[in-house]
Amino acid sequence: MAVNNTRHLVNLALIGFMGTGKSSVGRLAADQLHFAYLDTDELIQSRTGRNIADIFEKDGEPAFRKLEQQLVSELAARQRTVIATGGGLPANPINLASLKTHALIVCLWASPEKIWERVRNQTHRPLLCDPDPRLKIRELLAVREPFYRQADVLINTDLRSVREAAQQVVHQFKSAQSGRR
Ligand code: S3P
Repeated sequence: MAVNNTRHLVNLALIGFMGTGKSSVGRLAADQLHFAYLDTDELIQSRTGRNIADIFEKDGEPAFRKLEQQLVSELAARQRTVIATGGGLPANPINLASLKTHALIVCLWASPEKIWERVRNQTHRPLLCDPDPRLKIRELLAVREPFYRQADVLINTDLRSVREAAQQVVHQFKSAQSGRR
């Protein structure tokens, strides 16, 4: 995919739905690139001293989205960092535009079935605490797909291990940095 050469690709941002492996792939890619690793959810939790479910429950989703946007605006000052983002973060065009100025955006994609398989035994995601989480996944994915598709690179993780996905991510980043298409 073409990457505009005027961008400064000093960082690598991973976007994608919950359960696509952004955190595990991001950590591995950061190790391989000798980059720092930053997870927007983790940073919001450590800064507020609260977990995300608590923020959603007590303050509401819009308050969480404000914290995300504030954090994204600070990320332009980072260098040599792999940034793993919360699944809903790129649905705010301001966030995507900001990340694009300093990072190659890689989207980890997965089918709704795979996502369900990966998240079904986890309980920490407020948006999936729903009477019908499978339907919720399909609905949210449909709404977010146009945003995820604005990534520079799309990697399908359905049939890839974390290691394979990380290798792809690193390869794409190195290619983009050296100007290869
Ligand atoms: C969310 C995804 C979560 C977290 C929050 C909201 C979303 O991050 O930011 O629960 O809107 O998809 P992960 O994608 O890391 O699970």
